[in-house]
Amino acid sequence: MYKTIDSRDYHVLHPRPVYLIVSRSKNGSVNVMSASWVSPVSDEPFLVAVSIWKGSLTHQNIRETGEFTVNIPSDKHLNTVYKAGVVSGREVDKISSLGLRLLKSSVIETPGLEDMLGFIECKVVNEVEVGESTLFIAEVKAVHVVEEAYTRYGWDLNKAKILLHHGGRGFTTPSKLILAHR
Ligand SMILES: Cc1cc2nc3c(=O)[nH]c(=O)nc-3n(C[C@H](O)[C@H](O)[C@H](O)COP(=O)(O)O)c2cc1C
Repeated sequence: MYKTIDSRDYHVLHPRPVYLIVSRSKNGSVNVMSASWVSPVSDEPFLVAVSIWKGSLTHQNIRETGEFTVNIPSDKHLNTVYKAGVVSGREVDKISSLGLRLLKSSVIETPGLEDMLGFIECKVVNEVEVGESTLFIAEVKAVHVVEEAYTRYGWDLNKAKILLHHGGRGFTTPSKLILAHR
């Protein structure tokens, strides 16, 4: 038996991996925000889609430069991820208040973050209006990972405590790889 719940309750599709999106304005100022509505949407070419609320500074920045990086935090960044998602760069310089250090990208002008599990460099190729947000579809131009935490199955969960967002202040981290039968 199921219980029918509020048809607007998107938490039914959570927990979801959470990332730190770094964006840059046309004047060169850099901002960071948390995002869990991020997904790969094409393999060849490698495209990702990120759903970004129109009122955010990140939205304005991505519109201005057509670039962003998706940075992959671990559980040690829990509080940083929460704060980057509840405060706007319109009020606070989050890069400095959160003690984040920028790392030059190899292909795009927008930097990544140091001390993460990795980051990807993205260039917007398409946009779709989705209610109060814009779905930015971007081509991945470069992928950087902490070598010892990455295997043929992707993240080694013993070494890479990736973060998933439940909702509000709630997060989780997966700890076990399970293999399906051939
Ligand atoms: C864990 C977490 C995940 C979030 N995911 C998204 C998301 O996928 N898309 C979005 O537009 N906002 C998301 N938010 C909210 C933004 O991070 C928030 O609006 C932020 O303050 C925007 O910052 P900015 O104005 O500096 O760009 C999330 C917040 C948290 C805490």
